[in-house]
Amino acid sequence: MIGMSKLEPVSFLQGAALEERFNALNSFLIQHQPLWRPKPFIQLTLPWEQTYQALSAWLRARSLDEAEAAHNSPHTLQAPLPFSGWAEESRQLCAIGELPRQHSEAPNAWSVDVPGRKWEQVEAFTQHALFRHPPSHWLDWCSGKGHLGRRLSLSGTAFDCLEYDPSLVDAGRCISKRLGLSAHHYEQDVMDESVLNRLETSHTPVALHACGDLHVRLMQVASAARCSALAIAPCCYNRISGEQYRPLSTDAKGSTLLLSKEDLGLPLCETVTAGARVRRQRDISMARRLGFDLLQREIREIDEYLPTPPLPTSWLQRTFRDYCLELATLKKLPPVPEQDWKALEAAGWMRLATVRNLELVRGLFRRPLELWLLLDRALYLQEQGYQVKLGRFCDYDLTPRNLMLLAEKP
Ligand SMILES: C[S@@+](CC[C@H](N)C(=O)[O-])C[C@H]1O[C@@H](n2cnc3c(N)ncnc32)[C@H](O)[C@@H]1O
Repeated sequence: MIGMSKLEPVSFLQGAALEERFNALNSFLIQHQPLWRPKPFIQLTLPWEQTYQALSAWLRARSLDEAEAAHNSPHTLQAPLPFSGWAEESRQLCAIGELPRQHSEAPNAWSVDVPGRKWEQVEAFTQHALFRHPPSHWLDWCSGKGHLGRRLSLSGTAFDCLEYDPSLVDAGRCISKRLGLSAHHYEQDVMDESVLNRLETSHTPVALHACGDLHVRLMQVASAARCSALAIAPCCYNRISGEQYRPLSTDAKGSTLLLSKEDLGLPLCETVTAGARVRRQRDISMARRLGFDLLQREIREIDEYLPTPPLPTSWLQRTFRDYCLELATLKKLPPVPEQDWKALEAAGWMRLATVRNLELVRGLFRRPLELWLLLDRALYLQEQGYQVKLGRFCDYDLTPRNLMLLAEKP
C-alpha cells in the first residue's frame, strides 16, 4: 500500500511519485488477476466465487437496477468482505489530484459549432494545458474539426491541425476562416511516415481523446522531433493494431502483467455518458445474448460461451424466438427444438442482473488499469527526457477519460 492518509490533500503525480504509483498499481493488478480477468458474461460461475461464497451470494441476490446504480461507483458498495478491502485499496491507488489550472474564457462565437459537452472538455483541457514556457505553435493531433487547436490559440498563438477525415478537415477550415484565423488544417493520416514532415521542434502537440495507437504514435514522434512540450488526454486504450498490449516504459516492459486487447477494454466499461434509451437498448441486446447463450450450451451440449458477431439493432425488433433461431442459423448450430421462449428470455434477463452485479468486482479494477496504462505513458515520456505531470483536467462526469499527461523538457 502506498503511503497516503485520508487527510492528505490529493495531488497530481510527478517525479518519483510516477514510478512509485506505477509499481504499487502493478502489484495490485498482478495480485488480483483472478478477480478482474474472468468475465461473468462468458463464464456462468467465476473461479473466485468458490473462495468468497458470501460475497458471491450477496451479489447474485441483487437486482439489475441495483447493479446499474452502483456501476459507476463500485467503491461505495456495502458488500460483504473482502470487497471493502479491495475497494479501499483501489480507491487509494487511484487517488489523483487536479493539474494546475488557469481560468480563461473564450468569446461565445467560438463555441457555437461545438456540442456542449465537447466544448466543456475543450475548455477544461485548455485551462490545464499550462507549461513553464508558453508555446509558440500548437499542433492539434487527430483534431476532428480543430476545436481544441482553435481554443488554445485564443491569445493569438499559431496552430495547425492534423486529421484524416476530409469532411472534418473541410468543416474545420470553414470554422477557422469564419473566425478569421490563419490555421492550417491538414488532411493527414498520423500513422503514415509523412506525418514527420508536419512536426517541428517548435510545435507543442496536443491530443484530446486520440485513441490507443494514435496518441502513442504522437508520444513517439514528438520525442523524436524533440518537441519541447506536449499534452495528451488519452482514450480508447484498446484501439491498437496488435492483439497484445506493447508496453512503452522500461518498468512496464519488465512487468509480468501481460495485457490483451480485450483486457484494454476494461477501463472503458463506464456508462457515464450513455443516455437512458441507449442503455435500455444495450440491456435488451445483452439479455438476449445471455438467453441465447443458455440455449446454445444446451443444443451444442458444450458448456462453453460461443462468441456471436455484433448484430444490427433491427434484430431487437424480432421476437425472442426468431432472434434465437436466426442466430442459431448464423452460427450453424444443430436444429433448435421448440422451447419455452418466455422462460428462456426471462432467464436471459436474470443472468444479466447476475452478470452486472458480479461485474462490480471487476469494476474496482477499471481505474487502476487505466492509471497503470497512463503511468506507462508517463514513464516512457520521462525516459525520453521530459518532466511529466499526470492529473485530472475535468470531472469524471464530464468524461470518464478525464486524466491528462503534461510533458515538458526541463
Ligand atoms: C475521438 S476523436 C477526437 C477528435 C478531437 N480531438 C476532439 O476532441 O474533438 C478522434 C479523431 O481522430 C481522427 N483519426 C482517427 N484515426 C486517425 C489517423 N490515423 N490520422 C489522423 N486522424 C485520425 C478521427 O477522424 C477523429 O476525428
